[in-house]
Amino acid sequence: MSQQVFIGNTSDFPLGQAKGASANAVSVLVVHLKNGYCAIANKCPHLGLPLAGGKLAGNVISCPWHNSTFDVCTGRNLDWVSGIAGVKMPGWVRNIVALGKQPHGVTTYPVTEKEGKLYLHPGD
Ligand code: FES
Repeated sequence: MSQQVFIGNTSDFPLGQAKGASANAVSVLVVHLKNGYCAIANKCPHLGLPLAGGKLAGNVISCPWHNSTFDVCTGRNLDWVSGIAGVKMPGWVRNIVALGKQPHGVTTYPVTEKEGKLYLHPGD
């Protein structure tokens, strides 16, 4: 595995929350789930806006801008540009707001825990 960068103590990342962190100029959201930690780029693949502040439900985060949803562990896109700031849009509006961008997953990063400390592997 590549370089690991200390991003905080496990106590800094409460269960069921997405918290921001950075490693080597890579901005991420770290999510503490029952079975471990997952990290995704804090950058929505739609328009590159931050995912921070998006609603988290289990392992799914919604982009706070246009409601695209992503699995925080696999990065897989689950729904693409379905609304604006939490309000659903009809299909024809979705196509306009998508601006021709096709559905795309978000980058994920491995996180390891060692003795109460979390490390991100930004190059993986
Ligand atoms: S910026 Fe995230 S869905 Fe548009």
